[in-house]
Amino acid sequence: MNLSPLQKARYEYQPKLPSVLREAIDNIVPVIGNATAPATDRDQLKALFSNTYGLNKVSFAKGNNKDIKKQINVGVILSGGQAPGGHNVISGLFDAIKKANADSKLFGFKGGPSGIMDDNTLEITKDYLEAFRNTGGFDIIGSGRTKLESEAQFEMAKKTCEKHEISAVVVIGGDDSNTNAAVLAEYFLQTKANIQVIGCPKTIDGDLKNDEIEISFGFDTATKTYSELIGNIARDANSAKKYWHFIKVMGRSASHIALECALETQPNICLISEEVEENKTSLSGVVDSISTIIANRGNKGLNFGVIIIPEGLVEFIPEVKALIDELNDLLAKKGDAYSNLVSSDEQVAFILNNVSKDSANVFSILPTSIQMQLLMDRDPHGNVQVSRIETDKLLIEMVAKKLSKMKNEGNYTGSFSAQNHFFGYEGRCAFPSNFDSDYCYSLGFNAFMLIASGLSGYLSSVKNLSAPATEWVAGGIPITMMMNMEQRHGEKKPVIKKALVELDGAPFNYFKAHRDQWASETCFTYPGAIQYYGPKSVCDLTTRTLAIEQQK
Ligand code: FBP
Repeated sequence: MNLSPLQKARYEYQPKLPSVLREAIDNIVPVIGNATAPATDRDQLKALFSNTYGLNKVSFAKGNNKDIKKQINVGVILSGGQAPGGHNVISGLFDAIKKANADSKLFGFKGGPSGIMDDNTLEITKDYLEAFRNTGGFDIIGSGRTKLESEAQFEMAKKTCEKHEISAVVVIGGDDSNTNAAVLAEYFLQTKANIQVIGCPKTIDGDLKNDEIEISFGFDTATKTYSELIGNIARDANSAKKYWHFIKVMGRSASHIALECALETQPNICLISEEVEENKTSLSGVVDSISTIIANRGNKGLNFGVIIIPEGLVEFIPEVKALIDELNDLLAKKGDAYSNLVSSDEQVAFILNNVSKDSANVFSILPTSIQMQLLMDRDPHGNVQVSRIETDKLLIEMVAKKLSKMKNEGNYTGSFSAQNHFFGYEGRCAFPSNFDSDYCYSLGFNAFMLIASGLSGYLSSVKNLSAPATEWVAGGIPITMMMNMEQRHGEKKPVIKKALVELDGAPFNYFKAHRDQWASETCFTYPGAIQYYGPKSVCDLTTRTLAIEQQK
C-alpha cells in the first residue's frame, strides 16, 4: 500500500486518555452515580423501556477490578454518515479488550447495522487495525443507514451474536442509531439474550449533545476542515473583491456546524436555522435580509462577501416546513400513486392537487430543481435528504432578483456576482484532529469499561473536554434519559432528542453580538489547515463552541 508521509506519521501518534483510564486496566472500577430520568414523556418511556429506564449514571475511579480479565467477544457497528475518528473508537475499544484479556476478540459488522443481521462479520485483529489508527473514514468495516427496529431484525442480530459467542455490541452512531441501540439493549434484556449494547456518540452534525454529552465526535475535525476552506474562500473574496460566495455547510437540521464555522471565520452573514424558525422568518424575509446586507456593502463599494448557510435551513422557514410536513404525510400515504408518475410535470401536478392551498402556493414559486429535490426519497429514518437540496443556488437566484429590483428603485448601486459551494463530504473523512483522535480513542476504551462493568443501554461519555485530556471525566449515561416521544412516520416513537442551536446559549450570543460588525466591515479570520504537530495552543485546541460554552 502507498502511504502519504502524514499517514505514516499519524500511525505513530499515541492518543491521549483521561487519567483514570491510564491506570492498569484491573485497577479501574465503576462508581455508581445518581439514578436518571428523561426530561419529558416519563410514563410512556418507562412503559417502553422497563429494563433500561431510570438507570444510574456511572463514572470510573481507581480500584481493584479482578473480574475485568474474563474472556469475552465484542461486536462493533459503524452506523450512519462518516465522522472523523471512527477508526480510533475501534482502536480504543480493541486496545482495552486486549489489555483485559489477550484471548478476547473484537468482531466488526460490515456495512453498518445490516452487517449484524446478515452476519457480514470480520474479526478485527491487531495487524488489520494498524492501517487504520488515527486515520479518517469508516472504511475499516464500512457503514450504512439500515434502521434496526423490528423484532425480526433483532432476532437476526441475536443469532449472529450467538454464532460468534458475542456478548456485547458497540453501536457507533448518531441520535437515530443510538435510539436503535437503546431499543436493542431493551429487547436483549427482555428476552434474556445475555448481550449488552453500548453506544458511542458520533456525528459531524453536533446534534447529539446534552448536559452529559458535550460534543459528538467528528464535529471538531469536520468544522475545522470546513473553516479552513471557508477561510481560504474568504481570503480569495477579499483579494479579488468581485464575488459573493454562498456556502452551504452540512449539519442536517441543526446549525451547529454553520455557527462553529462562523465563529472560526467571521463571515459577513451566517444564517442560523433555529433563529429563522424562532422569528418565523419567511423565505422572502430571509432573502430580504441577505439582500440588505449585500446592498449596504455594495453601496460602499464592497461587492464581495461570504455567506454561510446551514443545509437544513429550508426545514425551518415556516411556510416551507409546513410544505415539507405535508409532503412527508402525502408521500407516506399515497407513495404508490406518486411513484407511478413518470414526468416531473405529472409529479408537480400531483403535489399541487394533494396539498393545501398555502403549500401549493409555496411549492409553485420554487424552481423545478428545488421542487424535485424536496420530493426525493426520505432516508431510512424518515429524514428529508437536506444535503441534496440546493439552498445555496435557490438563495442566489432569489437574492439576484431582489437586488435588481432594489437597483431599479435606486436603492442599490453595487454589482452582484455569486459563486456557490457545498461543504459536506470534504470534512467527513478528514484525518481526525488531535482532539478527535484522543476523544474517540477514549470513547472506545471507555465503551469497553462499561461492558466490563456489566452495563447495557448506556452511551459512552467523556466530559470536561475543553481541559487537557488528563482531566477528562470518563463514564456512562443511560440512553433512555436522553429520549422523548416524537411523531415519526405518523406514529409516536421514542427517540433521542436532537440538540439544536440554543438561542440563549453562549456561542450563539457571542455570534449575535458580533455579526453586525462582520456584516458591514470585512473581519474575516483565516484558521488555516488542521495542525497535528507544534505548539499545544495551535494543535490541541477544541472547537470555539466548546471553548465559549466552557469559558476557556
Ligand atoms: P449522521 O447523522 O448519520 O451522522 O449524518 C451526517 C450527515 O453528514 C449529515 O450532515 C448529512 O445531511 C447526511 O449525513 C448526508 O447523508 P448521506 O451520507 O447519506 O448523503
